[in-house]
Amino acid sequence: MCGIIGYCGNSAAFKFLYEGLKRLEYRGYDSVGICIDGKVVKMKGHVDQLNKCDSKIKNSGNFGIGHTRWATHGAPSYINAHPHTSGYINIVHNGIIENYKEIKEVLTKKGYSFISQTDTEAAAHLINYYYKDDLKEAVLKACKELKGSYAIVAMCEKKNQLVAVRNESPLIVGRGKEGVHLASDISAIADKCDELFVLDNGEFALINGAEISFFDIFDKPIIKQAETVDKDYESVSKEGYDTFMEKEINEGAKSVKNTLEGYRDKYLPPKFLEGIKSIYFCACGTAYHACCYGKKLIERYVKIPCFSLIASEFKEPYTTDYSQSLFVFISQSGETADTLAAHTLAKKYGAKTLAVTNVSKSSLEDVADIVIKTRAGREYAVASTKAYLAQLGFCLYFTQVLCGLNNIPCDLTAEENLNKLYKAIDAAGKMSQTQSLAQIMLNNEHAYFLGRGMDFITASEASLKLKEITYIHSEAYPAGELKHGTLALIEKDTKVIAFLTQSELKEKMIGNISEVKARGAFVTLFTQFDNVDCGCDKILLPDLPDVYMPLIAIVPCQQLAFLVSVAKGLDCDKPRNLAKSVTVQ
Ligand code: F6R
Repeated sequence: MCGIIGYCGNSAAFKFLYEGLKRLEYRGYDSVGICIDGKVVKMKGHVDQLNKCDSKIKNSGNFGIGHTRWATHGAPSYINAHPHTSGYINIVHNGIIENYKEIKEVLTKKGYSFISQTDTEAAAHLINYYYKDDLKEAVLKACKELKGSYAIVAMCEKKNQLVAVRNESPLIVGRGKEGVHLASDISAIADKCDELFVLDNGEFALINGAEISFFDIFDKPIIKQAETVDKDYESVSKEGYDTFMEKEINEGAKSVKNTLEGYRDKYLPPKFLEGIKSIYFCACGTAYHACCYGKKLIERYVKIPCFSLIASEFKEPYTTDYSQSLFVFISQSGETADTLAAHTLAKKYGAKTLAVTNVSKSSLEDVADIVIKTRAGREYAVASTKAYLAQLGFCLYFTQVLCGLNNIPCDLTAEENLNKLYKAIDAAGKMSQTQSLAQIMLNNEHAYFLGRGMDFITASEASLKLKEITYIHSEAYPAGELKHGTLALIEKDTKVIAFLTQSELKEKMIGNISEVKARGAFVTLFTQFDNVDCGCDKILLPDLPDVYMPLIAIVPCQQLAFLVSVAKGLDCDKPRNLAKSVTVQ
């Protein structure tokens, strides 16, 4: 987590640091800080806070570092914000220094005083401890002692130099017309660079004025190839919407369409899928819900053993021989630490791996056997909406491919069906009843989302959306499971949102709705069946075959969460405690 930026060139650094940090805010936004020519400004809050800097900082100094934080060690505060300072040394850091307590103990005995609760401060003092007029040497020596994951950029007030190092946390160095740029992510600097260098683990970069040189951990110079720069990074624009989230919800249909249209014939090489006896989908959060949809589709159509795994739960010793298995990792960012760790484990046990990512040149893309892109376009709001729809779109395509290989009739991605699907997704985002439901939801502290089969996936995703951006407590439950415990929580006026879109589960679901109504629950039902009457509020969804309904039913629920969040005066794009890219386990 956290975003790092650096600049060394012939223009005022502030502009580059600020712009870069704005683009990196998806990595965390609880506090922000910069250091330009040795002067540190830091504060609690979003990157915009930096506008408060006085014009001296804004206009002077042509080298500096910056950081936007997602707290892991120590609360969001001025003291814990980066850069961290030790003597003339300032550093910004992304990752976790696992042995910071040991380092702190040793350095405290040597007279260093620690003022923050962060792990980063230990690294700053350690670099200072080794600093004898050579910044690179000091960083090299310190890194030999650091354990954990880190990307660090260090600067020394006395020198016009930056030193960058990477271990398990991404760091990019680029050269452009106005100088050298550094960032945790290509998209933060691509438009300013003609050449980009992606640091590998254990590599260092020394930026000395306009010169960039690279070294390994033994201080041996290395030659790095510049990557081609894709300048076509989308601009950070809300295109007339007040929030990214609203814009992105409205791009749902386009996102599925672009994704599916991008998959040409044999896009997924048939040879790659030969000999696969089982499939494991693996991801976190919203992307995990997409995995559950993939599993249901494959079970329904292809009928080979298929599982969906929460990446953070996939750990040794719960592993086996996966040499005849395919692991499908779904990740919007391609940077999620738990998903990457699960990938490492799947590879260790012999699996073939397929990564489904939305952001280009991600870490997951680097390591997977094969990569398939979702084409949702850049997603900025922390809560995933259009990327989720694109992931569901991928699942349709993937099932179709497997059916093709196994001679199973399947028309999931038939043009006629897909055209109806795109229209239905659009229509589902414009339903006026969502507004009234948002009004009702505003007055609730708790909500329960119920569904069976594929509807449980929608319930889970709808519940996650609501809780993450409105802070209303909500739970998703498989409707049939409720009476095994959770039904005890249902009382008069408890808010229940039920989904009924799967024909074969109609009768059972109607029964489950009766059970909660009998305990006084206030139920709103999402369904496409106009002949279903459960004696509760009903929101009629566009009517498509059941198998497509997860892509339709989720859209009004995304709208619902958005409307409630706005009505509560919250920042739906940047909910508290969260970050778009979760790069720590
Ligand atoms: C919720 C949300 C998260 C992500 C999860 C995985 O709205 O966006 O639950 O889905 O953190 O992120 P990626 O897909 O980048 O691996």
